[in-house]
Amino acid sequence: MTDTILQHREAGVLTLTFNRVDKKNAITRAMYSALADALEAAAQDAAVRVAVIQGDVSVFTAGNDLADFLAAPPDLTPGAEPAPVVRFLNILRDFPKPLVAAVAGPAVGIGATLLMHCDLVYAADNAAFSLPFVNLGLCPEAGSSMLLPQLVGYTRAAEKLLLGEAFYAEEALELGLINRIVPPGEVNAYAQAQALKLAAKPASALQATKALLKGPQKPALAALMQAELTEFGRLLQGPAAKEAIKAVMEKRKPDFSNL
Ligand code: COA
Repeated sequence: MTDTILQHREAGVLTLTFNRVDKKNAITRAMYSALADALEAAAQDAAVRVAVIQGDVSVFTAGNDLADFLAAPPDLTPGAEPAPVVRFLNILRDFPKPLVAAVAGPAVGIGATLLMHCDLVYAADNAAFSLPFVNLGLCPEAGSSMLLPQLVGYTRAAEKLLLGEAFYAEEALELGLINRIVPPGEVNAYAQAQALKLAAKPASALQATKALLKGPQKPALAALMQAELTEFGRLLQGPAAKEAIKAVMEKRKPDFSNL
């Protein structure tokens, strides 16, 4: 079986690559587990100084695998054994070393919200971001209901999260969601070069700086993420989400008229 998350280590940089392009890099439970395992190990491994998350030149990721949402929805109730997605989100939030992302093509749902935990984000000019949670009968996750308004202001965050319309690299740059726009064929290499620069710096100073940047809001973010997950888990079992997700998979418009 092909590895759906590729791992490459070089010169202190761990690079994790989504590798399920035929399904637009939609993230399955196995992929969340692989990402969580890799980041948890990297957090403890002094040989890894920086981590990079990237996709293909055509697609970053279409977000959570929708078939998984229907067939095997994660148990997100507080106190439950953490589902793979929860393990991934927790280590993403708490990862102590710099995280760099390279985005080309669509970055949907968690593909967009995971970027809000990264320290540096580079996007290709074909990048398309969307937060379609409401359109799927769901609510924001990954702390995005706090991180997005912090980054871009309330009204702009509300527009992105309530309407769920795609927006593109220029707007993402203007919003402050990404650091720089790079041609699609160069974005992974550019992110790698930036990661190598970071890897050459003193790791203790980098990590102290990241901890200071993220520290003040850590408890509030952890509490908010738990609240989001509880709500998300409830909505995922509801009729609106079931109808919306089936509609995406059947490539038709959802019918919310009775919901
Ligand atoms: N989960 C499972 N499969 C997915 C998927 C997802 N999130 N996103 C795409 N796929 C699959 C499609 O079902 C299709 O599979 P098939 O070839 O077996 O029919 C394949 O990937 C290609 O997708 P397609 O929609 O034809 O590609 P596109 O280039 O026209 O559009 C996207 C790309 C990402 C814009 C579109 O696939 C999309 O919107 N996907 C759903 C995203 C989503 O709602 N994610 C959940 C967020 S919470």
